[in-house]
Amino acid sequence: MRLPIHILRQRRHGHIGVGLEGELLASELRRGDDDLEVIGSLPPLYPEWLGDRGFCELHRTRFPYVAGAMANGIASVDLVAEVARIGGLGFFGAAGLSLGRVEAAIDELQRRLDPQRLPWGANLIHSPSEAALEEAVADLYLRRGVRCVEASAYMALTPAIVRYAVSGLSIDFHGNVLRRNRVLAKVSREEVARRFLEPAPAAMLDALRDRGLISADEARLAAQIPIAEDITIEADSGGHTDNRPLTALLPSIQLLRDRIVAERGYRMAIRVGAAGGLGTPSALAAAFAQGAAYVQTGSVNQACVESGLHASARAMLAEAGMADVAMAPAADMFEMGVEVQVLRRGTLFAVRARKLYELYRSYPSLQAIPAAERDKVETTILRSSFDEAWASTRSFWMSRDPAQVERAERDPKHQMALVFRAYLGLSSRWAIDGVAARSSDFQIWCGPAMGAFNRWVAGSFLADAEQRTVGQVTLNLLEGAAAVTRAQQLRSYGVGLPGAAFDFRPRPLN
Ligand SMILES: Cc1cc2nc3c(=O)[nH]c(=O)nc-3n(C[C@H](O)[C@H](O)[C@H](O)COP(=O)(O)O)c2cc1C
Repeated sequence: MRLPIHILRQRRHGHIGVGLEGELLASELRRGDDDLEVIGSLPPLYPEWLGDRGFCELHRTRFPYVAGAMANGIASVDLVAEVARIGGLGFFGAAGLSLGRVEAAIDELQRRLDPQRLPWGANLIHSPSEAALEEAVADLYLRRGVRCVEASAYMALTPAIVRYAVSGLSIDFHGNVLRRNRVLAKVSREEVARRFLEPAPAAMLDALRDRGLISADEARLAAQIPIAEDITIEADSGGHTDNRPLTALLPSIQLLRDRIVAERGYRMAIRVGAAGGLGTPSALAAAFAQGAAYVQTGSVNQACVESGLHASARAMLAEAGMADVAMAPAADMFEMGVEVQVLRRGTLFAVRARKLYELYRSYPSLQAIPAAERDKVETTILRSSFDEAWASTRSFWMSRDPAQVERAERDPKHQMALVFRAYLGLSSRWAIDGVAARSSDFQIWCGPAMGAFNRWVAGSFLADAEQRTVGQVTLNLLEGAAAVTRAQQLRSYGVGLPGAAFDFRPRPLN
């Protein structure tokens, strides 16, 4: 890929082949044949060039590559630092962690990466049931100088994300609005993409200004620019997902972006990146071929040694096939019926969580659940009586948000939701900590990209779960995407290529 290739034609028979530095590679052309003409040349192709160069320049990355946030520190400091070291942009998985833990991670990332000006960011996740927490996290990021966030799970804009995006806006000599903070907005729906592509709503800017959270200048400048200049389209992914195909979703958001840029007359470029289902070189190549400015992975990184997930759970991921995933109720938006995509193989979490949701939908309270069902849930799922489960859930919420306890004591349906949500929350913890006695309850978010990755690396050094470093996974995906792109370029010149030309085998890279 790093050398130019010449496409040659034999004048007499019209055969087409390729030559590399004067050597003929295609069998139908005889070496030394003086009847050859060069009909085309392909310049070198580097993985660095597959996406939008503007993305790399702005975010100071070598590659147009993002490792997405993974909750509860699964996208760990080590993972984010390693992604930065090899030339990508990683986001710390802040969701689900206490403010103290997030701040400790920021300290470490700043210490390890800032001196070399290596890029990194952290996740700002919309928390509809805990608005104060979302605000506190945004506030922490502003206070601690976190310059880039991955904004996710937003359905509508909140004061927290708007404040983060517009804080520090200024204007240069030429009248361009300059940002201090950058938002990569992860979306899977047009209506949400639109919100990030438009300027912040005037009413929200006014309210933030009136509360003294942004200045009058920041509010004025914010009205001229979109909230985000990087929109990550998330197709069928691990975790929260609408299960949409990338090939359908990406073009529709690219068109929306083009329309809004034209309508608004924005001066800056707005990039659309692709996430969801990317676990092989050809998947990355396909996303770039569709015009993705950058690609983002998640599931495959969770299986890497730097991830915060326990080795026993990572070993389960290494066994997964493409169909070994299922949708299951989400802990954070359980009552709303929101689901997440999880690993199905080796764990009963999806079945058990669905059972709890079914009971929640069918009965007004824990007490109303028929004895036989109750018995099953207490012994096989919760492994404690409803009373014991409520006692521990209650003490958890007393320290985190006592209003939840008050509400639960008035509203038995809410009490049931909290008890069942406790199981859903703990099941992620058990997978992170590798609690062997609870391995059949492990909740491991995972999309079909994992099975595709496992199929691709079978028989190679990356088949071994302990060899999966995020560096090797990333470099192989990117180098492979360049190889696949090259093969397709050659095919489009009329060169006959075997299927194997599209199969890049994993190898140790640096
Ligand atoms: C274990 C896991 C946890 C995740 N947690 C978050 C999160 O907290 N915030 C977020 O924005 N995205 C989260 N994601 C989504 C990833 O950042 C990424 O967008 C997605 O995994 C890409 O799709 P893929 O899984 O098909 O590679 C998570 C994904 C996984 C697999």
